[in-house]
Amino acid sequence: MQFKINRFWTVVITLLVVYGLVRWGIPAVSRQITGLPFPLSVPGTLKFFYMTLTVIALFLFVTYSDENLNEFLAPIKRFLRGEFGKPIRAVVLSILPLIIGWQIYSITAPAVELPSSLRIQHPSSNFPKKFETLKNPLANPTDADIEAFIADAKIGQVAWIPQLQADIEFWQEENPDAHPLSAVATAPMLAFLDRLQNGNPDQESAKAALLEQRLFQGRALYAMNCRPCHGDSVAGDGPMADGFKLRPINFTDNGTIETIVEGYTFWRVTNGGPGLPTEATPWDSAMPQWKLNLTEEQRWLIILAEYDLAQKTPRIPESH
Ligand code: HEC
Repeated sequence: MQFKINRFWTVVITLLVVYGLVRWGIPAVSRQITGLPFPLSVPGTLKFFYMTLTVIALFLFVTYSDENLNEFLAPIKRFLRGEFGKPIRAVVLSILPLIIGWQIYSITAPAVELPSSLRIQHPSSNFPKKFETLKNPLANPTDADIEAFIADAKIGQVAWIPQLQADIEFWQEENPDAHPLSAVATAPMLAFLDRLQNGNPDQESAKAALLEQRLFQGRALYAMNCRPCHGDSVAGDGPMADGFKLRPINFTDNGTIETIVEGYTFWRVTNGGPGLPTEATPWDSAMPQWKLNLTEEQRWLIILAEYDLAQKTPRIPESH
């Protein structure tokens, strides 16, 4: 004997199963896939989409033929005529309006809300004092740094961060006769290389060229690590930016990296969202903890490039 569920119950069961999948199934699977200690729930709008699509599909299914429609309506008609017993009809017909009324009441009734708390963008309660006077060690090359840079440049030996090694090697294969530093094709660098070719370059142009090389590497690191959130234009509009409730910071905005000392920027980049104290809530920051992936020198290179790209200068630490 073939077991057959009538159209009415097919519709009801399908609705319940789809709702169950969206409400509990997907979060449970997400937990398995991501390995996170909590499930990722389906956003309300998406739930609404799924349920609306299901209702449309069921509507097509039920109205596909007169036979389907009659089969679907039959139990409803029988119920309304009291064929399943008058008490059951009375109970269902009084409970349904109550449930709907309660739903509407809970949506429209004003709820008691917690007073909204403001988020502090630059909290300092756990900011280590010793960072306060830190200066970017890469912003002002020492005479020894410059001498070493000139000596290396003379023999065509240039040190690059490991993240750039492969790209520079590729570029050198394409440009076998070029000085490796001309990969950084900015005016101060080209002026320095010009002087290098014609004899002894002066300290000033070498310093400018060394800074150019550092900025170049900082920009590359920025593009690899920060751009997805903070954007090409450093305006906090990277391709991933819209995904976060607490938006990635717009560095060109006056209230951001310009109002903090470099040591603070370094601390924020080093410890990211996980390093923030509670004043920086209610929303959690998605800013990663860069000490896990970038060396101290690489973080300073990025900060150098970050201020340069944003055309901003850090706040000068107050002298006590
Ligand atoms: C996953 C997205 C994401 C990535 C990638 C990311 N950030 Fe952020 N960043 C944020 C968010 C969100 C904030 C705002 C909340 C906060 O201050 O933590 C932020 C804030 C900051 C701030 C604080 C600015 C201020 O004025 O308080 C700095 C500095 C910063 N990011 C630098 C960087 C650097 C440098 C990188 C790359 C090494 C980077 N970020 C990569 C999301 C990101």
